[in-house]
Amino acid sequence: MRDLRLDNITEVVTESFDGLPDARQRQLVQQLVRQLHAYAREVRLTHAEWRAALAFLHRTGDISSDTRSEFSLASDVLGLSSLVDLLASTPDTTPGSVLGPFHAADSPWRDNPANLIGDNAGERVLLRGRVLDAQRRPLPGATLDFWQNADNGLYWQLDPAQPRDNLRCRLKTDAQGAWEVATIRARPYQIPTDGPVWHDLVAPAGRSAWRAAHVHLIVSAPGHRTLVTELFDADDPYLDRDAVFGVREALIGRYLSETDPTAAARLGLAGPSCLVMRTDLVLGAER
Ligand code: BEZ
Ligand code: FE
Repeated sequence: MRDLRLDNITEVVTESFDGLPDARQRQLVQQLVRQLHAYAREVRLTHAEWRAALAFLHRTGDISSDTRSEFSLASDVLGLSSLVDLLASTPDTTPGSVLGPFHAADSPWRDNPANLIGDNAGERVLLRGRVLDAQRRPLPGATLDFWQNADNGLYWQLDPAQPRDNLRCRLKTDAQGAWEVATIRARPYQIPTDGPVWHDLVAPAGRSAWRAAHVHLIVSAPGHRTLVTELFDADDPYLDRDAVFGVREALIGRYLSETDPTAAARLGLAGPSCLVMRTDLVLGAER
């Protein structure tokens, strides 16, 4: 340890963590050391660059609070959140996508079919589908936790003009595994542009701040892996440049006009038809 050199420092630091008692934590930390060192070697990291990176992390911490995680946003715009989602997804099930910062626990329970329209402005739509297991068998009694933004692009937490819990709910699938939410069409919106992630990382790259319009879902059922995902609108202009890399082909749905006078009446529409997006959500078995 007295003669630390370029050719031994990485191994010495890695071995210094041999004492971590938990094998998985040991693997995570030791691989992190190896990869960080490899990165610094590869780019020949300078003192000035290293200080700039630390200052960026400081600013990221400074703007973070109980209600805002700029670190989470950094993970999102670097594609790390989406990579973790993809690593956790299994073939033949609905892929996961970004949780985002606007999920809040204890969403109000609603009967299924649910109607969240209330006083919201916007285009009235129906989201419908089933929750299925990997063998495509319906899962009755599965829980859906649903949230989305309002017609002005904002989630209720950021908009004092919206009632508490606007456009969010939990519901249970029926005996056929079916679910339905009457709501307004979600709108594209921008990731926060007042912090270091935007100013120092995303804007200088000439990237867009826009997220493609989406609704969020957490789907859970006993014996199955909980799915955190999003559903996107096929007509959205930002699908190919979502700021946080959340879009997957399997999560893009199209609103189609269906003749369904009962549903149209529930939506408060005059005519016999309404815009419907149908999506089945497929859960993998618990590992
Ligand atoms: C969202 O989906 O709400 C979101 C995700 C990442 C960053 C900002 C917002
Ligand atoms: Fe969102």
